[in-house]
Amino acid sequence: MTRNAVVTGGVRGLGLAIARRLARDGLRVSVWDLDAPAEAFAHHALCDVTSPESIDAALAATEAALGPVDVMVANAGITGPNHLAEDYPIEAWRRVIDVDLTGVYLCNRAVLPGMRARDWGRIVNIASIAGKEGNPNAVAYSAAKAGVIGLTKSIGKETATTGIRVNCITPAAVETELFQQMTPEQIAWMKSKIPMGRFGLPEEVAEMAAWLASDACSFSTGAVFDCSGGRAVY
Ligand SMILES: NC(=O)c1ccc[n+]([C@@H]2O[C@H](COP(=O)([O-])OP(=O)(O)OC[C@H]3O[C@@H](n4cnc5c(N)ncnc54)[C@H](O)[C@@H]3O)[C@@H](O)[C@H]2O)c1
Repeated sequence: MTRNAVVTGGVRGLGLAIARRLARDGLRVSVWDLDAPAEAFAHHALCDVTSPESIDAALAATEAALGPVDVMVANAGITGPNHLAEDYPIEAWRRVIDVDLTGVYLCNRAVLPGMRARDWGRIVNIASIAGKEGNPNAVAYSAAKAGVIGLTKSIGKETATTGIRVNCITPAAVETELFQQMTPEQIAWMKSKIPMGRFGLPEEVAEMAAWLASDACSFSTGAVFDCSGGRAVY
């Protein structure tokens, strides 16, 4: 049976690596992003994950093109600026929470009824080590990612007796275009925290996402999967 997967933010970075990996595993992938993908996937939809209407339209288009969504990888995210908490621009705080937390919630919410009806689904939310540890000068990002961990645990429990598995990944720094939103000091600080002494590769996160999206992930739900080069010991 061919399964259908949505990868939000799949045009570049981690999302692109995950979309490629799921396609290689034989899933039909729909990429939902603000931008159109440069490479061909089974389907794509222009979508703003902060907008329920935009998500509804993307879901309807995906279902019309491919059929039901079996796998949701909620990956789209932004870092926001780097400031001390007391100086953090309130508008930037709202924007980061909107994209990184509310966007993940809305994408989970949209696919859950169909997954429940079919009694099978895999949701993989991309959080961050920042959500576990709290990165300095990144209060909104850290709070949003901690929120993603919390909502993953909550939905994991709500669906635990069904065929749905809901998990999140907490990567440490992976070199993608997201780095262009950070200061050199922030990037150097992140690298210094990783015991392996290097940044992660998008393919390393994609490997974990592919397993979490598969039947092989059967007895794990509401869980947080580390991908941090040894930075997290929990
Ligand atoms: N790169 C890292 O070091 C790192 C580490 C931990 C977690 N993460 C998380 O991984 C995810 C992907 O990060 P990345 O490094 O690949 O970023 P990236 O900037 O390379 O790609 C993010 C993608 O999300 C899309 N996007 C942004 N806002 C959107 C919106 N409102 N609606 C739809 N699409 C939107 C962008 O267009 C882009 O294609 C993010 O959630 C990020 O927080 C990244």
